[in-house]
Amino acid sequence: MINEGINRADSKNPSLEEVRPTIAMIVAASENNAIGKDNQLLWHLPNDLKFFKNTTWGFPVIMGRKSFESVGKALPGRTNIVVTSQQDWKAPDAIRVASIEEGIQQAIAKTNSKLIFITGGGEIYKQSMDIADSIYMTRVHAQLEGDTFFPVIDENKWTLVSNEDFDADEKHAYSYSFQIWKKI
Ligand SMILES: NC(=O)c1ccc[n+]([C@@H]2O[C@H](COP(=O)([O-])OP(=O)(O)OC[C@H]3O[C@@H](n4cnc5c(N)ncnc54)[C@H](OP(=O)(O)O)[C@@H]3O)[C@@H](O)[C@H]2O)c1
Repeated sequence: MINEGINRADSKNPSLEEVRPTIAMIVAASENNAIGKDNQLLWHLPNDLKFFKNTTWGFPVIMGRKSFESVGKALPGRTNIVVTSQQDWKAPDAIRVASIEEGIQQAIAKTNSKLIFITGGGEIYKQSMDIADSIYMTRVHAQLEGDTFFPVIDENKWTLVSNEDFDADEKHAYSYSFQIWKKI
């Protein structure tokens, strides 16, 4: 769990409430929650790449070491924070942290942003379900084989607050929906 300093503060301590930013996960997942295979994505959906770029631009992004290496370089225009247990790991334009909690602390310390994105992959999403406030989910309408999955969204804990549907076309092999889920 997130440590004291960045927990959702109780009403007795409004100053801590001000400190705690919104934590949003952003992901594209198939109907069966597959998000990747062989350390790659399962599709090429240009509109989703644009959506990801526009939504995360200017904000800190926290990701697992494998996802960072899958992309191969830091995402421009964003503070890149990479979670790894390897103390000697480094990459240009990336901040190494030893845990997601440390990643959030670093995001606050370095940017003071009120919104922090968790951008995967599977291991990092799984560990972030309890601390995230929202999920930007691109639901790709296909059943696909993968080796990495997003956790099942528990509708007792999360509610769908927006949904926009898009058809498949010559550039998009699958239909897809941009969804926003908020923690209840
Ligand atoms: N569809 C999407 O939206 C989306 C988004 C992102 C990624 N992906 C896909 O997801 C796959 C990668 O996901 P993944 O689950 O294999 O890997 P990952 O979550 O990206 O990274 C896992 C690595 O993060 C580090 N890590 C995780 N938890 C940690 C902790 N608590 N403390 C310290 N370090 C920790 C470890 O690095 P070390 O081994 O270095 O210690 C671990 O090996 C790829 O296929 C990628 O394409 C899909």
